[in-house]
Amino acid sequence: MFGVCYYPEHWSENQWASDAQRMVNLGLHYVRIGEFAWSRLEPERDQYAFEWMDRAIDTLGAAGLKVIIGTPTATPPKWLIDEHPEILPNHPKTGRSRGFGSRRHYDFSSEIYLEESLRITRKLAQRYGRHPSVVGWQTDNELCCHDTTLSVSPAAKRAFQGWCKQRYGSIHSLNEAWGNVFWSMEYPDFPSIECPFGAVTETSPAHQLAFRRFSSDQVVRYHSAMVAALREHAQDQFITHNFIPMHETRVDNHALAAPLDFASYDNYPLGRTDLIMAKCSAEELIPYMRTGHPDYATYYHDQTRGLLDRGFWIMEQQPGPVNWANSNPRPLPGMIRFWTLEAFAHGAECVSYFRWRQIPFAQEQMHAGLLRNDSSESEYLPEIRQVVAEVQAMGLTKEQKTHSRIAILNHAQSNWISDIERQSQFFETDTIQRDYYCALRQLGLDVDFIDEQTDFNRYALIIAPSMPMLSKALLDRIEKSSTTFVFGPRTGSKTNEFSLPHALPPGELQRVLPFRILSTETTRPDCPEHLVWKGNQYQSLVWREFIDAGHCETIATMNGTHPAVLKYGQRIYIATLTCSRFLVDFFEDLCQSLNLATFRCPDGVRIARRGGLTFAFNYSSQTQSLEIAREGEFVLGGFEVAPQDVAVWRTASKK
Ligand code: GAL
Repeated sequence: MFGVCYYPEHWSENQWASDAQRMVNLGLHYVRIGEFAWSRLEPERDQYAFEWMDRAIDTLGAAGLKVIIGTPTATPPKWLIDEHPEILPNHPKTGRSRGFGSRRHYDFSSEIYLEESLRITRKLAQRYGRHPSVVGWQTDNELCCHDTTLSVSPAAKRAFQGWCKQRYGSIHSLNEAWGNVFWSMEYPDFPSIECPFGAVTETSPAHQLAFRRFSSDQVVRYHSAMVAALREHAQDQFITHNFIPMHETRVDNHALAAPLDFASYDNYPLGRTDLIMAKCSAEELIPYMRTGHPDYATYYHDQTRGLLDRGFWIMEQQPGPVNWANSNPRPLPGMIRFWTLEAFAHGAECVSYFRWRQIPFAQEQMHAGLLRNDSSESEYLPEIRQVVAEVQAMGLTKEQKTHSRIAILNHAQSNWISDIERQSQFFETDTIQRDYYCALRQLGLDVDFIDEQTDFNRYALIIAPSMPMLSKALLDRIEKSSTTFVFGPRTGSKTNEFSLPHALPPGELQRVLPFRILSTETTRPDCPEHLVWKGNQYQSLVWREFIDAGHCETIATMNGTHPAVLKYGQRIYIATLTCSRFLVDFFEDLCQSLNLATFRCPDGVRIARRGGLTFAFNYSSQTQSLEIAREGEFVLGGFEVAPQDVAVWRTASKK
């Protein structure tokens, strides 16, 4: 299934019918509209102007398109902000309010804004909740984008104080939990609690973590209320949200997704690659500058699939150069088709392109569309025609993505902890997790992302690349599980209130891995030491824990002396950050011992499976031959895969 994002309010009404017809001719099925249109839907308070939307939906529907409406809550109109300026969020760094004139200018703690959001959402849902051409809803747009989760507005501060009271009961317990005797930080009562920003130097990590937890809860509360309001009137239509990654929302995306029918993701591989590789050398970037890094799109596809453990949508797919990264290159020919197939291979049910036509005015005028602003077809559009036909021909969406045997435990809080207390500016949980993911993907493995409620027995191997806080419930489940677990550095190193565990790190993890961390050091990434495993030397980088191995077996060492990797039964602990070469070798060996088949992908090649289909994606600039496909029957391409091309084959077994 395919779709596109369309903004009827940006174009003359007499273009709508031909646009709709061209969408259908291209093979698109869905069109998303409305998500920033509040000023046109309600130009003045209580003066609703839905007639244009009626006509737009009717025009799109008459052409055969199915419509998804985005609630317009990411863009409160000027009259509303003038009426209630307290809706605006306050930036944690400056304390100042973030003004009108772009988007996402609202505070998740504003009760007034919640009410206003519910009001406009209900109005829309009442009007279109049974419309035959409207099949679904998108809540808001990219919640928390532009760093909007944390706000220090008066409303946020009041709500935070209430949240603290609820959580800690007495001010004494809060002071104890946060360690406020340090630097005389003790609070006399709940109304005196500050937001943890704007102090002379760093504020207490426990206080910061509490504020992160509170802020995440506020976003979930706001969003869940919106979903409930939609459900009152839109009972037979789906509800989704176009997520940005969890380390960017700084919210528990699993909780955010819980009330939805499915999750969606906005996929901009070149923009992301440019930002993630901003500090890499030109030699490292250039091979991927116009293709995207082989693991950066799928890292998020796999996480989005994991949010609800089901098929997901790409609600926005990059169609050409974007406008918001540091540099915005043009994709190589073939990449729009390639990314589309890749999303389907990782479990997408629909890929929808952003946007139909390049807009000649305002902030995104340099962002490509499927059409240029004169309505001529962009050079990438034929790729969409091609991929629509290919996906249909191979019956791709009839295939079900099955669970992998390998999963990464994804945990919002672990990201917050490394934001709050880094100890090295090069220790960042999400980067570590991505490095582990890349290693697994280089071994040709499909990877699931799971949360701690998931049935662990489904997996042969579960990896927590760095998870400083482990709940008791999680530990109980790990203890009972016979699955092999690999934990990365810092796992178990903090109590639930951001202190060191009395029994030394890894704290309660000692229940399943009886060793102790006596001391930790961090060093510059260009000062590596030796990690020695099976007689080979690798790198130990940035983070090093000095360990009393206790009852655990040492399976790799730091410089041939101190324990670096420990094992106890089916549990393994890696006490340092390390190079990708080690991760690949180590996981290959471990998978072999667990009877999990691996395949070392040729340079720039990645493999993914969906039902009976196996896909090979060639990101490299060389033609690559696919030994792994020897037993398959090709449904697309063949053994030799050209650069930026894809091969797909059917395997005998469906698993
Ligand atoms: C997304 C956003 C869209 C548009 C797009 C540009 O993050 O949801 O509204 O701004 O980026 O790439």
